[in-house]
Amino acid sequence: MDKRDFAERQRYLININTISTQQLFTDTVIIGAGIAGLRAAIEAASNRNVIVLCKGSLRDSNTWLAQGGIASVLCKEDSFESHIEDTLKAGCGICDEKVVSLVVQQAPELIQQLLEWGINFDMESGDIATTLEGGHCHPRIAHAHGDETGRVIAQGLINKVKENPKIKIFQNFYTLDLLTGEDGSECLGIIGFDKRGLQIIWAANTILAAGGTGRLYRETTNPEVATADGLAMGYRAGAVLADMEFMQFHPTTLYIAGASRALITETLRGEGAKLLDDTGYQFMKDYHQDAELAPRDIVSRAILSQMLKNKTTHVYLDVRHFDKQKFTKRFPHIAELCESFDIDVSRELIPVRPSAHYMVGGVKTDQSAKTNIANLYACGEVAATGLHGANRLGSNSLIEGLVFGRIAGSQAAGSSEAASAHISHPAIEFQIPQSDRTRLDTKDITNSLRALMWRNVGIIRKERPLLEAQEIINFWRRYVMDKTFDNQQGWECQNMLTVAGLMAYAAKQRKESRGVHFRSDYPETITNFEKHIEISRPKMEK
Ligand code: FUM
Repeated sequence: MDKRDFAERQRYLININTISTQQLFTDTVIIGAGIAGLRAAIEAASNRNVIVLCKGSLRDSNTWLAQGGIASVLCKEDSFESHIEDTLKAGCGICDEKVVSLVVQQAPELIQQLLEWGINFDMESGDIATTLEGGHCHPRIAHAHGDETGRVIAQGLINKVKENPKIKIFQNFYTLDLLTGEDGSECLGIIGFDKRGLQIIWAANTILAAGGTGRLYRETTNPEVATADGLAMGYRAGAVLADMEFMQFHPTTLYIAGASRALITETLRGEGAKLLDDTGYQFMKDYHQDAELAPRDIVSRAILSQMLKNKTTHVYLDVRHFDKQKFTKRFPHIAELCESFDIDVSRELIPVRPSAHYMVGGVKTDQSAKTNIANLYACGEVAATGLHGANRLGSNSLIEGLVFGRIAGSQAAGSSEAASAHISHPAIEFQIPQSDRTRLDTKDITNSLRALMWRNVGIIRKERPLLEAQEIINFWRRYVMDKTFDNQQGWECQNMLTVAGLMAYAAKQRKESRGVHFRSDYPETITNFEKHIEISRPKMEK
């Protein structure tokens, strides 16, 4: 096999020798500390020891940044049927209906449990207050401390996890790879890196809850940690990935040239904020009957069209008609954010544009959060459970993380071989051949990749730019994937290139438009495409 082929099919990112590496043993190891990972930890620790691995600090997650809320049927005017119907409609014909029912039906009980654990949702007349987001027929978005829902939920779960002596949390721990046995059919734990050096954690069960891919794009709402590591390590281990063409773009991200992007919650529009172009025209009614509350993909494309038409870099959210005091109480985070840029929301408009927000696809699981690899589960944004189909309904992700986090944790706690004493710890040795190709600057490649993905695999796609993206990514891969790095920047760049290649490939394969995947050369939705594009790593010949 030549070196190029090796790099394409590479099983691990680094040279591995399990015998000479520091080793730990646990029952369940969980990669990721967002809502899904934390909820899984609580469940798995009901009778087993658990280690939770967190790439940065416990605040560095998409969960922590979530504003709008968490979707659930919470009042008698609403119904499971309605939440199911809205989710299926958004998913454009390719949701797994059983999964949709399961999540919708378990949601109220799990929200109630959060209340019992001391997580305070905003209340109205003694009940949980709810609001609207695009695509929901009923106000069913619960929120906490106004627009800081994610932070409040995450903090509550972190408190609960910290109280549990069976759970250990390793922060600033970079997980490199999943370890699998000789034939690759069984997951045995992970290899990762922290300030103590390389560490192997052997575990009877491994739960992948490593979050999303927003950082693959120049414009994103996601934190710096969202570099697709979980998807890349799942792919290298042989997990099946599905729906990688479905990247959701959030319509409204604060746009201040030079400043990092920040989410401006959709619930603002749910409560009456208007979208205006640079001439002050409220354009959304020209694009969809639901205007500002149309599904996210439609609003994102409408904003982009309006920007192109008027040759502007952004549009505006108008909240000038809101009562200022009420606004500050209901949206404290956004009020503070706007103030920090000297935007007086009672007099001025908020500049916004769309950006990459949520990876709908991921590591394929069944209803038990099981992947195709034994003892490996996946939940949260890294997973493709079938809930979202081709488009995720706003606020369905936190609830999915809660439901599938509990399922994955309970599977890990209940499996007959859940205790670490039962697992094998084979000697694994893996050597990457030395490369004689030029060493490229991975920081530069990462930035260029993010710009390429935004331009060529963004909100509106087309054959030629997708093909070009694949060609450019493959060129970079040749020079980056054949190296062994000893730092996070290098590993992240390798993971981002791996996943970007898969996303461009899937987007090129789907020659139609569906949900968040819009092809200007194939603008129609085609019945033949009511299927999922699944990808797995070609096996390395011996
Ligand atoms: O707009 C928002 O608050 C985002 C919600 C979500 O992505 O679920």
